[in-house]
Amino acid sequence: MTAGAGPDVAARVVVDPAFRVGRVRPRLFGSFVEHLGRCVYGGIHDPGHPLADEDGFRTDVIDLVRELGVTMVRYPGGNFVSGYRWEDGIGPVEDRPRRLDLAWHSTEPNTVGLDEFMVWAAKAGVEPMMAINLGTRGVAEALDVLEYSNVAAGTALSELRRSNGADDPHGIRLWCLGNEMDGPWQTGHKTPEEYGRLAAATARAMRQLQPDLELVACGSSFPGMPTFGAWEHAVLRETYDLVDLVSAHIYFNEREVGLAAYLGSAVAMDGFIDSVVATIDAVRAELKSDRVLGISFDEWNVSRVRPESVPPSGDDWPVAPAILEDHYTVADAVVVGSLLISLLRHADRVHAAAQAQLVNVIAPIMTEPGAGTWKQTIFHPFAQAAALARGVVLRAAVESPTYPTQAYGDVPLVDATATWDEEAGEVTVFAVSRAQDEPLQLEVALRWAHVEVVSATTYWHADPTWQASADDDATVLPREAADVRVEGGVVRLDLPPISWNVVRLRVAGPS
Ligand code: AHR
Repeated sequence: MTAGAGPDVAARVVVDPAFRVGRVRPRLFGSFVEHLGRCVYGGIHDPGHPLADEDGFRTDVIDLVRELGVTMVRYPGGNFVSGYRWEDGIGPVEDRPRRLDLAWHSTEPNTVGLDEFMVWAAKAGVEPMMAINLGTRGVAEALDVLEYSNVAAGTALSELRRSNGADDPHGIRLWCLGNEMDGPWQTGHKTPEEYGRLAAATARAMRQLQPDLELVACGSSFPGMPTFGAWEHAVLRETYDLVDLVSAHIYFNEREVGLAAYLGSAVAMDGFIDSVVATIDAVRAELKSDRVLGISFDEWNVSRVRPESVPPSGDDWPVAPAILEDHYTVADAVVVGSLLISLLRHADRVHAAAQAQLVNVIAPIMTEPGAGTWKQTIFHPFAQAAALARGVVLRAAVESPTYPTQAYGDVPLVDATATWDEEAGEVTVFAVSRAQDEPLQLEVALRWAHVEVVSATTYWHADPTWQASADDDATVLPREAADVRVEGGVVRLDLPPISWNVVRLRVAGPS
């Protein structure tokens, strides 16, 4: 599969401070907590656990969320939100109703709701991104949850919040106007015209209450939807001047395309983003608008579904069943790294992103009931990128041999991007190798007079199917890269097969 590749083949990346994509927005490193499976109950919240705090939140999970570097968390769904009544989750816990959650065929106990989530978000140090129900509900309920959350005092719902113990307003700025409303599986699924009108009316009313909100209109659930493109166009025709962002979602799965193409998933991610940008800009031209909208890539990840981890059915409506508890491989982590590269490369138009999800459900963090936590393989590229991508993203020019795939055409063997923190005088290069069998020599030419390596790590394993588990999540970790050479402004290193690599450099002087 590696046509033209061999031990001598060098891929080349040129990094020049003159060519900037955009600043690294902290919101690119968002995540997602949905009332789904064991993400909330038994995930972030587990009052009976020995490490739970006074509010029932697992402190070991909070520690890992901080270590992961998550900046923003989308809540409470996902498909769940389209049947959710937010007011079920406020007030005395013993008075809260139990409801059937149609999206995940589960029983929702409502032990955790808006106020608890905001307490957790403060403890985890993340910004909330709140989704509202535009499936079974509408403008009035959106205004209610906004008043409850953000009005300081003196109205029925702000006083209700205060009587529930949250004296200060929650100050939530970022709101998703529904979830995946293009999907026939969505409770309250709508045509683009129906959804566009509802989203516009909701946005207009919410802005009457608070003009400076940041609002996300639903884009397509994934680019393979038959309505992809037409959906965005019709929705944006209704909402363009009322929203700030349009959402994008995608999950990649090795089983669907085979390993070689799967490793090239970022090619599809790049194409998806470019198509949404093109549609946004087409509507902008049609409407002669000065506003340039961005993308909220608020669900992205790899998925490796296990048959024992699918939603319940029939008469079985359990509370917090183990659903979508995928176990990830080293190859999955490398693909996650490449998707982060794609998001960074589009930092000019992707203004927010959320890896789906955070704990237990297609997640980097896993909890064992009554026991400890463990890190999935996909934890590591996210944590490294969140910690080291700083300043501006530079338009890295990548020259690499390619290999053919049926799913995504010609895929470069090496992909890379770079960020430049001018104040700290540091450049970080993020690179993946998709070669399956042999190492590839990578040459990075940096347009600075002085270049010095601060650190270089590589994440790989001779067996790319290796998975972390509760018993062993440390056999494969990012390790110091061997033999990184610097000569003038050129850095050379060998990328192991199927690897994620991070090179941190100190740079100075004009090129
Ligand atoms: O993240 C899991 C589910 O995937 C979300 O609830 C939904 O929005 C998407 O289809």
